[in-house]
Amino acid sequence: MIQIEVPLGERSYPVLVGPAALGELSSLVPDDVRRVAFVTQENIGISTEIHLPTSTHYLPNGEEAKQLSVIESLCSAFAQGGLTRSDLIVGIGGGVVTDVAGFAAAVYHRGIRVLHVPTTLLGQIDAAIGGKTGVNLSEGKNLVGAFWQPCGVICDTELLASLPEREMRSGMGELAKYHFLGGGQLDSLPLDERVAACVRIKAEVVASDEREGGGRALLNYGHTLAHALEIEGSFDLRHGEAVAIGIEYAAMLAHEMGRISDASLEEHRRVLHAYGLPRGLPAGSNPDRIVKLFGRDKKAKNGFTFVLDGPEGLEVVEGIPENLLRKILERM
Ligand code: GLY
Repeated sequence: MIQIEVPLGERSYPVLVGPAALGELSSLVPDDVRRVAFVTQENIGISTEIHLPTSTHYLPNGEEAKQLSVIESLCSAFAQGGLTRSDLIVGIGGGVVTDVAGFAAAVYHRGIRVLHVPTTLLGQIDAAIGGKTGVNLSEGKNLVGAFWQPCGVICDTELLASLPEREMRSGMGELAKYHFLGGGQLDSLPLDERVAACVRIKAEVVASDEREGGGRALLNYGHTLAHALEIEGSFDLRHGEAVAIGIEYAAMLAHEMGRISDASLEEHRRVLHAYGLPRGLPAGSNPDRIVKLFGRDKKAKNGFTFVLDGPEGLEVVEGIPENLLRKILERM
């Protein structure tokens, strides 16, 4: 078992990574907890034993769960079950579940403890670590939420064996970004060490910038184009697949701007290829619409803004000319 700490002073917490890590759940439950509320989805089908009174709360399947009304129902169910501020919520599932369970934990009784058991690769290397929680509004994704750190995270890598191939590949799209965040050739590692290496990087980034005032934004490498493609909504793309296309685009942009060498551009392509990820824009993409969506990106305060690779590694680059963005889109 690999144990990594997310170092946040009094709010530091362990992330356990390895096969059968779920068996360690009880060891992460704080001593004063009297009851545990599991939050999951029916199709996840993972349960675990714990020697305390428990309740299980099922969220609607898929992204449907990320609604304020679901938070309200969940908190009502907690109240009816007598959950108190000294109890514990355990979120078992993908990013949707940990986002919702985490947000409910942040607001129920003004904040109770939560422990995450991410069951997808994307959840294990990204979503469940770092305390970002929230739900969607009809106006956009993740517009309401809170930073609420868990008291522990369990990344049982055996759970990944049963993931559908496409879900696994989607996780690989997020994993690809860690190669360029100091991870190096992660694809040469066995899966549990690879997950642990990503967790270590994420823990460091979160520790240095918990509330995304600076460095945490680098975790959004590849995400500007990815979000534009996702908002477009008409493409059959999983999140990690969209991120992979976004990484290819960011690398081409950085190369065109003279920030990275031919070899570095090739390394980006090697990594995306090694994980079987898409690199080209989906058929029917509209560069005008994509550029408009780039302008609405949360990072875009001083002109078009991207996370780009360069001589010093990844950094946030502002004021990128529109004609350059368009040229690279047309070249993809
Ligand atoms: N998923 C990006 C972050 O946690 O900041």
